Amino acid sequence: MEATQVEQKYSFDVVRWFSIAAVVYLVVGTLVGVYVASELAWPWLNMDSPYLSFGRLRPLHTNAVIFAFGGCALMATAYYSVQRTCGVRLFSDALGWFTFWGWNVIIVLAVITLPLGFTSGKEYAELEWPVDILIAVVWLSFSFNFIMTVAKRKTSHIYVSNWFFMGMMVMITYLHVVNSLAIPVTLFKSYSIFSGVQDAMIQWWWGHNAVGFYLTAGFLGIMYYFVPKQAGRPVFSYRLSVLHFWALMFGYVWLGAHHLQYTALPDWTGSLGAAVSLAMIIPSWGGAINGMMTLSGAWDKLRDDYILRFLIMSLAFYAMSTFEGPVMSSKTVNALSHYTDWTVGHVHSGALGWVVMVAAGALYHLVQKLWNTEMYSAKLVNLHFWMATIGAVVYITAMWVSGIMQGLMWRDYDEFGTLTYTFAESVAAMHPYYAMRAIGGMIFWAGAVVMLYNVVMTVRKAPATSTVRAAAARA
Ligand code: HEM
Ligand code: HEM
Repeated sequence: MEATQVEQKYSFDVVRWFSIAAVVYLVVGTLVGVYVASELAWPWLNMDSPYLSFGRLRPLHTNAVIFAFGGCALMATAYYSVQRTCGVRLFSDALGWFTFWGWNVIIVLAVITLPLGFTSGKEYAELEWPVDILIAVVWLSFSFNFIMTVAKRKTSHIYVSNWFFMGMMVMITYLHVVNSLAIPVTLFKSYSIFSGVQDAMIQWWWGHNAVGFYLTAGFLGIMYYFVPKQAGRPVFSYRLSVLHFWALMFGYVWLGAHHLQYTALPDWTGSLGAAVSLAMIIPSWGGAINGMMTLSGAWDKLRDDYILRFLIMSLAFYAMSTFEGPVMSSKTVNALSHYTDWTVGHVHSGALGWVVMVAAGALYHLVQKLWNTEMYSAKLVNLHFWMATIGAVVYITAMWVSGIMQGLMWRDYDEFGTLTYTFAESVAAMHPYYAMRAIGGMIFWAGAVVMLYNVVMTVRKAPATSTVRAAAARA
């Protein structure tokens, strides 16, 4: 199909905006991450200012990377791949733009309210009730637009990536709505309608499923479309991908209690969470192997296709973190790992290695398609790949060592039954690892800056696109 026809057939402008926004938010969100990591290593960076304190900037970091970067990457790739796999234009361009601007207004509200200290105190759901309502409206518009596009498709079949995206949309809608149910007291303060143990259970039912359905199912939707596309081959086993989908959908919702082992929750809920977590290794590894084996017989492509390197490396990290997670959910290991930096290391092996790597591969692919050009510099893509890989590995290794050390120091006692170390001693012992994490983070962040530069230069040197778009507008 001619480039002009493609431009007329699909709504790509909103995808372009989401893609650029995703790259910008990656740089900003990881920069805040580097700052909070540095505050832990060098506390004077708090500068005695409440607005710059670790407690306020930490949720800004998590919201920026998960919702600003992750959300824009998901919306760009979902809106793009649904049009391509269904052979139709988006159901509504207007709704597409509404989701773009609505999501960005939410991000701006987060940037203002979190440093000011307005928070509901629920992790990954800190934003106050007016913003929660806005999130529900925008998320539903996104989901409705996507599902209606699938409904008017020209193909008889619904490709598996669309199932993963739709699974995410349905589950996140009800998780977000239920977890955010609250009684407003003022415009900026509300109290959850749940209390005590129920509140903890609902919070972690949301918390783990934000991971399971947003950071995993959504990004698997990305994987199932972009890995075969970039590799130029069909997915290794379509049947396995469908199994992967249903196993994830039915399994993940039962895991939340593994965040609350040894708490006031009934003991059996933690055991159930751990048992289902262990079972999740099977679909997760099935999916990772399915993605990797898509390259079977064409591994040589990894030699010079740097975008593919991102995608395949992300699958290796996906496999690693979905092995580590179930191990950590068992009560014996959790007794050591809970409250320690081991959890933070696990989070970032999933976040940096899986989420960012797969999204970066998809975004590089998208930028080339959307602007109908090659990347400005393939060498810079490769440089970014190595910086991201090295940065992630340094970060994760530092956290493994510090996490296990913390766990061991906290539980060590002498022959009189007295704790060997004070808490302050364990904090002091973490310093070298916190410095190492901050350095790993800086390397990872610098890689994201390289990506932003490369993307901007690619868009700027793509005259074909402006010609194509001008021609489309005239036609
Ligand atoms: C340069 C890269 C990054 C750095 C230096 C960094 C640093 C940090 C730091 C210092 C914390 C606080 C840890 C603590 O409370 O002890 C944190 C938490 C967190 N970050 Fe990052 N981060 C980075 C990238 C990301 C990305 C890309 C994501 C997601 C896609 C992410 C997701 C999270 C989450 C979910 C938490 C909360 C972890 C928990 O509660 O256990 N981070 N990060
Ligand atoms: C089968 C897959 C997985 C299982 C069973 C699992 C299990 C776990 C467990 C047991 C914890 C520690 C709970 C605690 O002691 O507090 C945890 C924390 C976490 N995991 Fe996973 N994990 C899996 C995959 C992933 C992936 C792929 C990601 C990222 C994309 C991820 C992100 C997180 C986050 C953000 C937390 C920290 C939550 C918090 O305390 O704030 N997990 N996970």
